Amino acid sequence: MKREKFGSRLGFILISAGCAIGLGNVWRFPYITGQYGGAAFVLIYLFFLLVLGLPIMVMEFAVGRASQASVALSFDKLEPKGTKWHWYKYFGMAGNYLLMMFYTTIGGWMLLYLCKMLKGEFHGKNAEQIQGIFGDLMGKPVLMTVFMMIVVIFCFSVCSLGVQKGLEKITKYMMFLLLALLVVLAIRSATLPGAEKGLSFYLVPDFQKVKDAGAMQVVFAAVGQAFFTLSLGIGAIAIFGSYIDKSRRLMGEAICVTVLDTCVALVAGLIIFPACFAFGVNPDSGPNLIFITLPNIFNAMSGGRIWGSLFFLCMFFAAASTIIAVFENIISFAIDLTGCSRKKAAFCNAAAIILLSMPCILGYNVWSFIQPLGAGSTVLDLEDFLVSNNLLPLGSLVYLAFCTTRYGWGWDNFLKEANTGAGIKFPKAVRYYVTYIVPLIVLWIFIRGYIG
Ligand code: PHE
Ligand code: NA
Repeated sequence: MKREKFGSRLGFILISAGCAIGLGNVWRFPYITGQYGGAAFVLIYLFFLLVLGLPIMVMEFAVGRASQASVALSFDKLEPKGTKWHWYKYFGMAGNYLLMMFYTTIGGWMLLYLCKMLKGEFHGKNAEQIQGIFGDLMGKPVLMTVFMMIVVIFCFSVCSLGVQKGLEKITKYMMFLLLALLVVLAIRSATLPGAEKGLSFYLVPDFQKVKDAGAMQVVFAAVGQAFFTLSLGIGAIAIFGSYIDKSRRLMGEAICVTVLDTCVALVAGLIIFPACFAFGVNPDSGPNLIFITLPNIFNAMSGGRIWGSLFFLCMFFAAASTIIAVFENIISFAIDLTGCSRKKAAFCNAAAIILLSMPCILGYNVWSFIQPLGAGSTVLDLEDFLVSNNLLPLGSLVYLAFCTTRYGWGWDNFLKEANTGAGIKFPKAVRYYVTYIVPLIVLWIFIRGYIG
């Protein structure tokens, strides 16, 4: 009896972790850390993960569990009569779509790299040639489109066939495999000749770098990454609250998901940075960082082709489990809005997302004259910036206000929901902190991020 309960709880944690753990950990975390100077950035990021991310995740879980619904209906069910909180779903959906407009493209790159690994394309290539392979790829929008489409169609098929249950099983194993692989790779990378420099970049904080980059900019980026990695602010993780049964308090579950997510990100950094310095890759390389660094490590390993293929396979599943969670939200929103069938909602949205992903693919090289964020930035950078640094923090403010003020669902309802069951309590004493301080910090960082 006990065992079975444990099994299903572990299942829940791994599945929510499936939504949280994704490209944010293995792709975004290392490249943002590389851009903002390494260890000092990591500390700031961990700080905000704890003081802002964790309480907001508990709130999303609480809204999801109390309403037993996705963001399409959760506010309708909980809001006080006559209020307009349910309008938030349009904002949340905009966030879900915008996220998918670049996320699926990166998911496609993972799949593409899986194929390249299987074919042994990197074998015997030096660091420069490996960078060249990525550069070539960016000049091939048709190829990128094909792989993005495969990702979208695969994930929407899973949603429309309702085969999540089956996929959840695979995802569980993939998560374990990913964790094991990451550890093996971290050990290999950290023992490369020349790895020490990378380790000190990643592990020894140098706050002078934070000052040089502009302290507020670094904080802005760290908060964006914290929200991105935990899937907060657009109702993406909320749905998983409805999978937690009433026997568990929400705080403990949120801590588990956050810890797992953080472990994956931290170990990913442990793989990337030693290799960066060992192979002379610039840690400031941006979104292509892992794609020009990782193949080098696999080359330096015996059986690297197999390890590399396994790695990109796991990454594909990690990305897919996130995409499927977001697609679920998108589909249930469409069904709720139009009353159409599940299959139709899946088909139309798949088509829409494929079209919406085109600017990211075409704008990677062709439209590089679009430079909203400084020289050399792409449509990908712009979309990512809009989501991570704008929609996620602003959307989180809605959850905060909804759960703590009497204009919304209210503190008492929230606290009762969060603390139903056994496990770690959401402390009553932090009421003042989450009602006033947390929203003020989020808002202040948001504004300062723009005015510097
Ligand atoms: N948390 C996901 C990741 O780390 C990304 C994500 C952000 C998913 C926001 C949903 C909503 O990859
Ligand atoms: Na994540």
